[in-house]
Amino acid sequence: MAPQTMPGLDGVIAAETRISGVDGEAGELVIAGFPLEEIAGGATFEEMVTLLWNDVLPTGPELARFTSRLAAFRNLPAVTLEVLKAAAASKMPVMDALLMAAATLRLSAHPTGESESSASIEGILAQFPVVVAAYWRLLQGEEPIAARPNLGHAANYLTMLTGSAPAAEQVRALETYLCTVADHGLNASTFTARVIVSTRSDILSAVVGALGALKGPLHGGAPGPALDMVFEIGSAERAEPVLRAALERGERLMGFGHRIYKVRDPRADVLAAAASRLYSTEGDKDLYALALHVERTALRLLDEIKPGRRLHTNVEFYTALLLHGIGLPSELFAPTFAIGRVAGWIAHCLEQQRFDRLIRPQSAYTGDRNRKWMPIEQRHG
Ligand code: ACO
Repeated sequence: MAPQTMPGLDGVIAAETRISGVDGEAGELVIAGFPLEEIAGGATFEEMVTLLWNDVLPTGPELARFTSRLAAFRNLPAVTLEVLKAAAASKMPVMDALLMAAATLRLSAHPTGESESSASIEGILAQFPVVVAAYWRLLQGEEPIAARPNLGHAANYLTMLTGSAPAAEQVRALETYLCTVADHGLNASTFTARVIVSTRSDILSAVVGALGALKGPLHGGAPGPALDMVFEIGSAERAEPVLRAALERGERLMGFGHRIYKVRDPRADVLAAAASRLYSTEGDKDLYALALHVERTALRLLDEIKPGRRLHTNVEFYTALLLHGIGLPSELFAPTFAIGRVAGWIAHCLEQQRFDRLIRPQSAYTGDRNRKWMPIEQRHG
């Protein structure tokens, strides 16, 4: 029997993994054995990374060692800063700047002088927030702020952005977000990373490729537009006419629908709970109430206008709300997603390296056959 074409690889199982499992019909996400709801609200990002990379939560001394290794990497090669300055001069989007800067991390000096590759996995992980924060400040015409050795990954990111230490609620909300998005099965960017590493290329190359995949609006680029939609709606009575008009124009509502989840995205639930906690102490409560109304209206209209498509709230809708509540501008939503997801990309690269099998699917040729070569003088119009 001829192999069947699967457009978009829907339903194709292309890898076995112990890192995370997605059950789209049940609306469940398991991360290295833990239901997402069990771990996302309690773990620090460093604990989550250790779990993803080693399949076991760290002990106290192990966590301290990992934390101090990350701290040693939180500075950038001079050339990376030059690239970021050039990107800021042309006001490039943050994801483009991160993509370009990530490739230059190969030039990082290893802080402990170890012989391992300078672009070590800890270095890549530690430097992502440094790049994003430095670039964001350069874009505002401000100098980058150095990381603080006594702060963890999430708190350092917020501090490097603003210069002041964040509130504990903001840090916890960001830890929950980063843990929630750290891995998610064989999504497009993770698949990209695995394909690259399957050629025995290196992990930094895989991370750069994955960033390119994450940048697209159908993957990591949705939360900014999701929040813009809430702002554009502006008041509860406008939700229905604005959303209905968008759907009737054939537009997609950002933050809704998912290739795998045909029920509510469990990450949306975890982030909704985190947002509810955060907005009880921080942020714009009116905006939060409006967003909840927009969500309810969108779900009702999607059910009415796109019946049977089973479109539910995805992770991006509550990402937008949560990150806005933490104080991040929407331009930083996708890069902050990358800061979390790079942990999963690296975990998958390590797993793929152990598996060591080239990923090389086939395509079905649909073009002409037996065309005849014609010299250029004989080709007319
Ligand atoms: N708004 C309106 N209609 C939608 C939406 C949406 N958000 N999502 C899907 N549909 C409709 C499609 O138009 C299509 O309708 P049709 O049958 O009349 O042609 C039907 O639902 C099925 O759509 P597909 O394109 O087959 O769904 P797919 O599985 O490819 O899409 C995707 C998944 C890309 C996430 C889609 O739901 C979408 O574009 N959502 C908006 C963007 C978004 O929120 N992206 C973030 C996803 S989460 C993440 O990547 C981290």
